[in-house]
Amino acid sequence: ISLKPYNSFGFDVSARYFAVLESAGQLAEVRDFIQRHDLPVLFIGGGSNLVLTADLNQLVVVNRIHGLQMSPNPDGSICVTAGAGEEWHGFVRWTLEQGCYGLENLSLIPGTVGAAPIQNIGAYGVELKDCLSSLDAFDMETGQAVVFSADECEFGYRDSIFKRRFPGRYLITAVTFTLSREFNPKLQYGGIADQLKARQIATPEPLQLSDLIGDIRNAKLPQPAQIGNAGSFFKNPIIPVDQAEKLKHDYPELVMFADQPGYCKLAAGWLIDRQGWKGHRQGDAGVYSKQALVLVNHGTASGADILELAAAIQADVYQQFGVMLEIEPRCYP
Ligand code: EPU
Repeated sequence: ISLKPYNSFGFDVSARYFAVLESAGQLAEVRDFIQRHDLPVLFIGGGSNLVLTADLNQLVVVNRIHGLQMSPNPDGSICVTAGAGEEWHGFVRWTLEQGCYGLENLSLIPGTVGAAPIQNIGAYGVELKDCLSSLDAFDMETGQAVVFSADECEFGYRDSIFKRRFPGRYLITAVTFTLSREFNPKLQYGGIADQLKARQIATPEPLQLSDLIGDIRNAKLPQPAQIGNAGSFFKNPIIPVDQAEKLKHDYPELVMFADQPGYCKLAAGWLIDRQGWKGHRQGDAGVYSKQALVLVNHGTASGADILELAAAIQADVYQQFGVMLEIEPRCYP
């Protein structure tokens, strides 16, 4: 079966075996199957953070476990649990419509609820880990259902225990969030304040803020339905302060932010843009014209074409700035 409809880059590779998962109850069967055939398994949600470079000689399981639940906590906050196969943005809008706040800045991120913790999705000053309280997973090794607290997920910048240490071991089945009944909008991130001013809005309503974030995203990020992509292709590099200060001295327009003590985060988009890559195209693999951090498939590029372009960008940025960019999406096989 072709995985083209199941990955946001639109790479036309096939999977030897393919299944759609509708309930956690089917996982024991999946485990039996891969053990009997001695096959690796790849779980996918929206397929929006994947680079598929060749046909997969394995089982691919698409997570479509649905379900939404909410219940009040004693302290007045709300506990909301969503099935891992729920579409992320639809879930965010639903929470806001229910009067549960905290996820609004993560509006319009492609993908599913269950994929969100794997790379601790983040945007406009908020990360998933700020609202996540626990998640349910199935351990393919033991066949047991397990619960991870937020701490146990070891979240970092676009990182978690699932991405780093245990790729393929756990399938996330549901995610639980603690959301607030009080709306405390986070408006610090650059573009938001400007947009509010332009629209003459002093204090946005929750759905208004969600719409505004959507507009900011749409202005710089391509919709996968129109142009294949996986969002930011590189992480923003985190480097020691003294190295950052030297760079800032040589390149006064360099965009950087304070990070954990002793470190700075650089805008990778700026580094790539400065080197003239924005809008560059080799065959159907390209750099998006409005945001240099996003690589795009203009039609028939393969995963290998995209990785070749990525390697050229990495080498160029390294040669110019001495900073190695790390690829953000997961690559298979
Ligand atoms: N910049 C340029 N040229 C470019 C792109 C960016 O000069 O082509 C500069 C901008 O001027 C800006 C700075 O870089 O000053 C940062 O750009 P932006 O605000 O667009 O954010 P980003 O660092 O490129 C990160 C996340 C995005 C997230 C936005 C908003 C990563 C890898 N990316 O992008 O996340 O939406 O911030 O919070 O951290 C994703 O992970 O897929 C993703 C889209």
